[in-house]
Amino acid sequence: MSPSISIRPLTPSDAQAFRDLRLEALSSHPEAFSSSHEEESPRSLDEFRARIPASGPNAIFGAFAEGRLIGMAGFVVYDRPKARHKGLMWGVFVKQDWRGQRVGKALVQSVIDRASRHVIMIEAAVVLTNESARRTYHGLGFKPYGIEPKAIRVGDRFYDEELIYLEFPGS
Ligand SMILES: CC(C)(COP(=O)(O)OP(=O)(O)OC[C@H]1O[C@@H](n2cnc3c(N)ncnc32)[C@H](O)[C@@H]1OP(=O)(O)O)[C@@H](O)C(=O)NCCC(=O)NCCS
Repeated sequence: MSPSISIRPLTPSDAQAFRDLRLEALSSHPEAFSSSHEEESPRSLDEFRARIPASGPNAIFGAFAEGRLIGMAGFVVYDRPKARHKGLMWGVFVKQDWRGQRVGKALVQSVIDRASRHVIMIEAAVVLTNESARRTYHGLGFKPYGIEPKAIRVGDRFYDEELIYLEFPGS
């Protein structure tokens, strides 16, 4: 990744950039995410701001180039007492023009680094035909544990998802 690209957790002041990038992700790759543009576009800036964790283990990592948000990856620890040892990686996205420069890998690595201090395992799901995302995750140690048939529906098409996890050594 170019040294001019930096990665840091988003803060509430990044709300507008987060909203723009998230809606771009949902509209440009509807098959890659379980949420939809129709669901999220009516949400206000304040609602997006409230989704950005201000402290604690949860985070949305942003990749910045020339001060602009060009990629993101979310991490959230499950709430319920019997699941708090696990977290979920969500919303991984890099703007088209910045792909293939290891930005995706760096974002996922940020999630891994954060998660390793708080949980014993990260879970995620990726559409089976999404080669670039699967390569990103597998290359960083995620392993498949199953397939959810027809996990996502976009219009008349169904997409199977590969369910993946990364368990930290010694946990
Ligand atoms: C998936 C995504 C985040 C990857 O980001 P990126 O910055 O382009 O990825 P990187 O440059 O870090 O490359 C990561 C790996 O994927 C591989 N890769 C990248 N683009 C690829 C492509 N089009 N086809 C196959 N492999 C590809 C790279 O070679 C690299 O693997 P390697 O280390 O074994 O060589 C990006 O393609 C994206 O935003 N896609 C649309 C949204 C999406 O699918 N998100 C995932 C939802 S689960």
